[in-house]
Amino acid sequence: MPGSRFLELVAARRSVRRYKPDPVEREKLDLCLEAARLAPSACNAQPCRFVIIDEPELKERFCETAFGGLYSATRFAAAAPAIVAVVSDKGNLTAWLGNQVQNTNFRLIDVGIAAEHFVLAAADQGLGTCWIGWFNQRAAAKALGLPGGRKIQVLIAVGYPETVPAPRPRKTREEFCSYNKS
Ligand SMILES: Cc1cc2nc3c(=O)[nH]c(=O)nc-3n(C[C@H](O)[C@H](O)[C@H](O)COP(=O)(O)O)c2cc1C
Repeated sequence: MPGSRFLELVAARRSVRRYKPDPVEREKLDLCLEAARLAPSACNAQPCRFVIIDEPELKERFCETAFGGLYSATRFAAAAPAIVAVVSDKGNLTAWLGNQVQNTNFRLIDVGIAAEHFVLAAADQGLGTCWIGWFNQRAAAKALGLPGGRKIQVLIAVGYPETVPAPRPRKTREEFCSYNKS
């Protein structure tokens, strides 16, 4: 499918697990945040907040907490110059009602969309990212001083890639999609 700059961007993105120590410019982070802020959400509830941790000592302490013990498999993220905590909040009443009736977790869908907007905007600026679901939720929330009702759903490591991994396998198009039949 030639000719789509967007598809080229999507195809080139990787989960980066080795980072250069160079800091990430705030202008670049701001652009990623803007892409995330503009994401759609169920009932326009916008149930998430992004907290960037790029102050080196704070980040080090946060990573020690978030990636300690059982969670050491994701300690690689501590080498990234910035960590993003993607935090969900309570959303709004309409979204909550929709959630109950449809039995669908719209809040998580919304968080996922916003986070991927962030990740693609980062890739567009030559930055590497890695979504991180494996971290000590409770300790990380405490380290950030999160108020009740808020939860860190995922972390995103951000930085300039030291190495870019090979593509991971994907389902074939036949496995993945169909027109007019399930
Ligand atoms: C919600 C979510 C959570 C993830 N959590 C982790 C994680 O904890 N550690 C990790 O190394 N990669 C994590 N990943 C990255 C996936 O392993 C990666 O996206 C997948 O293997 C495909 O590789 P690619 O992103 O390079 O295309 C996560 C990705 C997503 C979307």
